[in-house]
Amino acid sequence: MKVSVSILSSSIKAADITKKLDKTVADYIHLDIMDGKFTENKTWTFGEVKKIISYSKLPLDVHLMVNNPEKYIEDYAMLNTSYLTFHYEAVKDVEKTINMIKDYGLKVGISICPDTPVDVLFPYLKELDQVLIMSVVPGKSGQSFIETSPEKISKLKEEIINQNAKTIISVDGGINNETGLLCKEAGVDMLVSASYIHKDIINNTKILKNI
Ligand code: DX5
Ligand code: ZN
Repeated sequence: MKVSVSILSSSIKAADITKKLDKTVADYIHLDIMDGKFTENKTWTFGEVKKIISYSKLPLDVHLMVNNPEKYIEDYAMLNTSYLTFHYEAVKDVEKTINMIKDYGLKVGISICPDTPVDVLFPYLKELDQVLIMSVVPGKSGQSFIETSPEKISKLKEEIINQNAKTIISVDGGINNETGLLCKEAGVDMLVSASYIHKDIINNTKILKNI
């Protein structure tokens, strides 16, 4: 199982987390970017992001929870970004945003909010490297996992197999050892976690990795 560690935490400074990340078995830093418009909360400026991630060599799994994600692509393409993921609900022209991200040589992901049906992504699967299923309403860490999320994951997995696409499925929100296992059984490839992992970063990363 791939593990992407969200550095969003209400009680721990993001830089204090990235300083420890290279000692864990994490695969990616999950970077939650919020603009205070798509979501109520706002996260770091680009300058702050550069400082925060400078303590780790891990590749970035960037989750843009912003309106007009196109405006962020150039900046994030300058960093050690592997996946650049935007929200389906935040753009008018999905195809155009996918192509803009690809033109920068990045892997492209789309995320959907809990109320968005997964079928809306079926026409794009062949072009997507990642689908990020939100198992909480985007905006903050520490929320409870929405129980219907594994059904969405299974439905998506079935379609990925049908289309013979190479898209990976990630899940984000309320992930711990138990909810992570439910998602694995449904077909998820990558778990994103903040609050569970930050309780014991070394051990809990390992637990999710071996799930
Ligand atoms: C929520 C963010 C998540 C969040 C996960 O909007 O996208 O990445 O940090 O936090 P936990 O694991 O605490 O639900
Ligand atoms: Zn996230």
